[in-house]
Amino acid sequence: MKILLAGGAGYIGSHTAVALLKAGYQVVVLDNFDNSSPEAVRRVEELTHKPVVLYEADAADKAAVLNIMKQEQPDCVIHFAGLKAVGESVKQPLRYYRNNIDTTLTLLECMELTGCRKIVFSSSATVYGEENPAPCNEEMPKGSCTNPYGWTKSMMEQILQDAAVADKNLGVVLLRYFNPIGAHESGRIGENPRGIPNNLMPYVTQVAVGKRERLTVFGGDYDTPDGTCLRDYIHVMDLAEGHVAAVEYGAGHNGVEIFNLGTGQPYSVLDIVNTFQQVNNISVAYEIGPRRAGDLPVVYADATKAKTVLGWQAKRSLADMCRDSWNWQKNNPEGY
Ligand code: NAD
Ligand code: UFG
Repeated sequence: MKILLAGGAGYIGSHTAVALLKAGYQVVVLDNFDNSSPEAVRRVEELTHKPVVLYEADAADKAAVLNIMKQEQPDCVIHFAGLKAVGESVKQPLRYYRNNIDTTLTLLECMELTGCRKIVFSSSATVYGEENPAPCNEEMPKGSCTNPYGWTKSMMEQILQDAAVADKNLGVVLLRYFNPIGAHESGRIGENPRGIPNNLMPYVTQVAVGKRERLTVFGGDYDTPDGTCLRDYIHVMDLAEGHVAAVEYGAGHNGVEIFNLGTGQPYSVLDIVNTFQQVNNISVAYEIGPRRAGDLPVVYADATKAKTVLGWQAKRSLADMCRDSWNWQKNNPEGY
């Protein structure tokens, strides 16, 4: 089976490419390198000793996507292509709506034109909004998002659901990721943020490697055991393997199915910092600062459905996540 990874040169896409190739799938990557590098795809080939067909293209460019899909005839599309920085989305909402929604519409139109009827979509726990108390399960109605990025995810889920209502041959798997961290255990591929990291783990690793002075912990006065926010951190290779399970499930099902991809185990910001320091025997300077606008105190998954229906569950520990994040950062201090 051949899988087209739109946005496949990015952090989650490159790890998923490794997992798919290992499971025997053929992989085609389409990326405009807006937030990634072709080097990631080269390293996927190096790690797996398997070829990846790579196209530099915009997933919103209908002529380009149509050509690629006619040429490659993929059995399934995984749609990772999107802008994902929450704060940037508040400042540049139109760019976020344009890119994220156009890529989704274009991919769906080109799938229809070429007879590809299976899509797996990168959604986010953010669609649960603030209304749903943790642990979030897939039966809960979506909530209100706190930023345009989150709304694009919520809207794209709706677009995909409507498309599946209209076309009974379409199979849609919506994957709601919680907090992916870590890297492939080889240390050859990993997360490569541009500029100052928005997310916790890349900030921690950049402090450890000496690129940033200290981490600011956003808020120490939440109603949680140590006062810092709780999240469901998941190793990116577990997440990648979740995509393989989703592709396999999707091959045999039409309609829409939603799965949380998380561990179901919440950890605090200080758990991350402390585990990172212990496992890697390195210190991370930090200070407790003010809360960050829009952060929810506690977000974690009910991970039961993916286990029951997909037969998938996360296997790697927080120590594995911290070790592999550091292994990637220390071997690639400047990224790719
Ligand atoms: P990433 O930025 O590393 O990967 C996204 C990839 O899409 C990049 O390679 C980028 O160049 C590409 N891209 C963006 N717009 C494109 C376009 N118009 N045409 C072609 N390529 C385009 O991000 P990631 O962490 O790998 O995230 C992958 C997906 O998962 C995104 O949709 C993201 O919103 C979603 N997601 C990520 C997280 C997270 O914490 N990393 C959490 C929930 C959901
Ligand atoms: N944090 C800090 N300091 C930092 C960065 C983060 O203390 O420098 C804290 C945050 O306050 C939060 C935790 O670390 O408590 C995790 O923050 P991240 O930014 O890594 O992740 P979020 O949970 O805020 O966001 C993630 C994804 C988004 C998604 C959101 C939905 O990155 O794409 O989950 O829950 F929308």
